[in-house]
Order: sequence, then C-alpha cells, then structure tokens
Amino acid sequence: MPNKPEPFGPDSRGFRPQQIPESANLNSNCNASRCLNSPKSFSGTVIVGIVVVAVGVMVCGLFAFVWYRRRKQKIGSALEVSNSRCSTDQPKEMFRKSASPLISLEYSNGWDPLADGRSGVGFSQEVSRSFRFNLEEVECATQYFSEVNLLGKSNFAATYKGILRDGSIVAIKSINKTSCKTEEAEFLKGLKLLTLLHHENLIALRGFCCSRGRGECFLVYDFVTNGSLLQYLDVKDNAQRVLDWPTRVSIIKGIAKGIHYLHSSRPNKPSIVHQNISAEKILIDQHFAPRLSGSGLHKLLADDVVFSTLKASAAMGYLAPEYTTVGRFTEKSDVYSFGVVIFQILTGKTNVTQLRLGPDSIKLEDTLDENLHGNFSKPEAAKLVGIAMICMSEMANQRPTMEAVLQQLSISC
Ligand SMILES: *[C@@H]1O[C@H](CO)[C@@H](O)[C@H](O)[C@H]1NC(C)=O
Ligand SMILES: *[C@@H]1O[C@H](CO)[C@@H](O)[C@H](O)[C@H]1NC(C)=O
Ligand SMILES: *[C@@H]1O[C@H](CO)[C@@H](O)[C@H](O)[C@H]1NC(C)=O
Ligand SMILES: *[C@@H]1O[C@H](CO)[C@@H](O)[C@H](O)[C@H]1NC(C)=O
Ligand SMILES: *[C@@H]1O[C@H](CO)[C@@H](O)[C@H](O)[C@H]1NC(C)=O
Repeated sequence: MPNKPEPFGPDSRGFRPQQIPESANLNSNCNASRCLNSPKSFSGTVIVGIVVVAVGVMVCGLFAFVWYRRRKQKIGSALEVSNSRCSTDQPKEMFRKSASPLISLEYSNGWDPLADGRSGVGFSQEVSRSFRFNLEEVECATQYFSEVNLLGKSNFAATYKGILRDGSIVAIKSINKTSCKTEEAEFLKGLKLLTLLHHENLIALRGFCCSRGRGECFLVYDFVTNGSLLQYLDVKDNAQRVLDWPTRVSIIKGIAKGIHYLHSSRPNKPSIVHQNISAEKILIDQHFAPRLSGSGLHKLLADDVVFSTLKASAAMGYLAPEYTTVGRFTEKSDVYSFGVVIFQILTGKTNVTQLRLGPDSIKLEDTLDENLHGNFSKPEAAKLVGIAMICMSEMANQRPTMEAVLQQLSISC
C-alpha cells in the first residue's frame, strides 16, 4: 500500500506534530497549533510581553476548556477506555503501551473529523449526535474485536458481530484509515450520505465512530440473521437452504426496490449508484427479505481501494461490459449486475457466466434450479428470465431503468 496522507492525519490540518520543539511539554493542554502560532518575535517592551503572555494564557485556557469538553463527550478516544464498564485488564495494557505522548497530543488538538462544528459539510448536530458511537461502546460490543466475533475480512475492512448495551445485535465494519479517502471533507460527505439512506431493503446504518488511536473508522449496522444470498446458491438438495419459488420471487422484488431507492433522488437524498451489487452483498433477514449492504461505501474509500476490488466483480460476471471502456459506473451498470443476480436466483448457481445465450435458446426447464423440482410458476419464471436478459443487455442504453423494472415486476412505487 503506497504511503499516502491520512484522512484523519495531522497533515490535512496543516499541523505536524514533529514541528513541535523538543522543549514543548507534551502533557500540557497548551500545545495546540494556535499556541505555537502566537508571535515568536516581539519587541523587547514589557507591555508587549505582558500582552502576549496574557493572550497566551487565555488561548491556552480556551484550549484546555475545549479539550476538557471533548473528553467529557467521550468522542472515540482509546485513552478513555480506562473507565469502561466492560474493560478487562489485558486490552487496557495494550492501549497504554500504544498510547504515546504524541497521541494524547493529537487528541488535545481535536483530531476527530466528526467533532461538533468542525465538518463544514452541513452535518447537522442532531444527525451526527444520533449516529455517533464512542469507541468504548464499539469495543465493548465486539469484546475488543475478538476473533470469535469476526464475521468476515476483506482487503480494506473487517466485520465483527457485536451486542450493544441495549441488547441489539449489530455488525460492525472497521475500515483501516489508510483505505479511506484522504480528503477529510470528502470522507465526511460520504459519511453524511450514508446517514441519509433509509429503506426496508437496505441494511440499516446505526452509527459510526472514528478512532485515530486505532487508525480505524467503524460503521455500525443492524445485524442481519440469515446470511447472504451467496449461502443459498450452489446448494445440494438441502431442504434448509433451498429457497422455494415464492421466496425467490419476493427476494428479486425486494432487491429491485432497494436499487430503485438508491437510484432515485429525493429532497433529502441524492441519487447514488451502488457499484458493487453481488450475491454476497445481498443479506437475508429473518423474514427472508433481502437487504442490500455496502451502499455508498465507495464514497468513503480511496479510489485505488475501490479499483482494487473490481477484478473480483469482473471475474464473477457482475461488471457491466462497458466499464472496461468507459471506466465509470452508472445506474445502468447496477442494472446489469441486478440482471446477473436474477439469473443466480433463478438458476441457484453462483456462476452464470456461461448463460450468455440468445433469448430464444433459454429453456426454462434447463435454466431453473433443479432443486425446485419443477415447482415454479412458468409465466412468472419466463417473465423474470426476460427481465434478467434485458437488464444484461450489452448496450447500456438498451437496459431498462429500475423504475421500468419495478413496473414490469408489478410493484408500485
Ligand atoms: C492499516 O493499514 C496499514 C497499512 O496497510 C497497516 O500497517 C496497519 O496495521 C493497518 N491497521 C489496522 C488497524 O488494521
Ligand atoms: C433464518 O433465521 C431464523 C431465525 O433467525 C432461523 O431460525 C433459521 O434457522 C435461519 N435459516 C437459515 C436457513 O439460516
Ligand atoms: C465489492 O464486493 C466484493 C464482494 O462482495 C467485496 O469483496 C469488495 O470488497 C467490495 N468492494 C467495495 C469497494 O466495497
Ligand atoms: C464459470 O464457469 C465457466 C464455464 O463453466 C468457467 O469457464 C469459469 O471459469 C467459471 N468462473 C468462475 C469465476 O468460477
Ligand atoms: C410446491 O411449492 C409450494 C409452495 O412452496 C408447495 O405448497 C407445494 O407443495 C410444492 N409442490 C411440490 C410438488 O413440491
């Protein structure tokens, strides 16, 4: 991974810890940039001296006050773990060891990109408060990111299962800050976008928290109990995992509604492209309704990180053919991936790359999952195959919009 500026890094604020003179007292509250910026050269007159000292004291006092308030608000500081209810001695020791004076310096300098009034991207205080978790709660929920709770790992994130204090079960995605957008403002804009997405077929975001101490940002989502669609594909005739026909149809409709919602623009929600629709991203809840995960994630991630995951989508056949020439995602590339997912659900197979047949050559009996034992509605199946085919048109402009897809599925929106 190339060395790049860090999203929460001091560089983005024009303040470098190493610029602090050796003599600076790192434990004092008065090592913030404004203190350093106070005039260094002043004329020898006593009056100027007194004024400078007085101003200095006031500025430092102000910083001490701000710092104290931040501490009180417990904004994701690893150093505050000590009074945690669920803390055990071992992890605390680890934090102590890693807590260098420079880190406490960074905290006192208000590092948190989510701190009140800092964002300048219209994060309303209400939104950011209701969505903000503190690190202590995240650590507590995951039992300090115990391996036992690890649900999955990708090259930029790890996901843990956790239980919040109110007893609700969550999935906590931790993203290494080296994978995040380097521009703090852009990162915050992405975070804000995530808070605007609310739909029954999207996995719900409960909140987030960023920790400089750990170098990670955490996204807290509702936990979805019945795994991902992937787990229902390529199954042997195992009654438990074989989806019956009505369930398959309702899953397809739910996914369509979720994608349509993402693409639609509303007064308080811009239109967004998912970019990474796959069976793995479609989670199944306890009522066997689909919930799309990963929506808007690319808005938080550095471009090269997003790019590095594309090869896998291409290999699985999810990537629209024009991506290789245009290099851009559009609503129509999501529609293509949706077409692939419909075929996966109908065939019960993950790999549908060999299914590039002309519309006439598709025989329902040969195409549909043999685990259904012919137990499906033929007209419905024929209609879904037709929709999948047109969604997978080579030419983007021949693919329908999600709105048109919903109409064909007879879903009113
Ligand atoms: C984040 O990534 C960097 C560089 O890839 C790595 O050195 C560091 O250990 C990672 N941090 C975490 C918390 O995974
Ligand atoms: C789905 O979830 C329910 C309740 O959460 C559980 O009883 C059931 O075994 C799950 N089914 C599968 C196939 O995972
Ligand atoms: C896209 O989805 C794949 C498969 O679910 C995943 O491995 C990858 O990390 C995702 N990429 C992004 C940028 O979310
Ligand atoms: C999918 O199947 C085709 C033909 O059956 C095969 O050539 C291809 O390697 C498979 N792709 C994956 C990702 O397994
Ligand atoms: C077909 O599926 C329906 C609904 O799941 C079920 O009621 C019916 O018994 C099934 N019929 C056969 C022949 O498996």
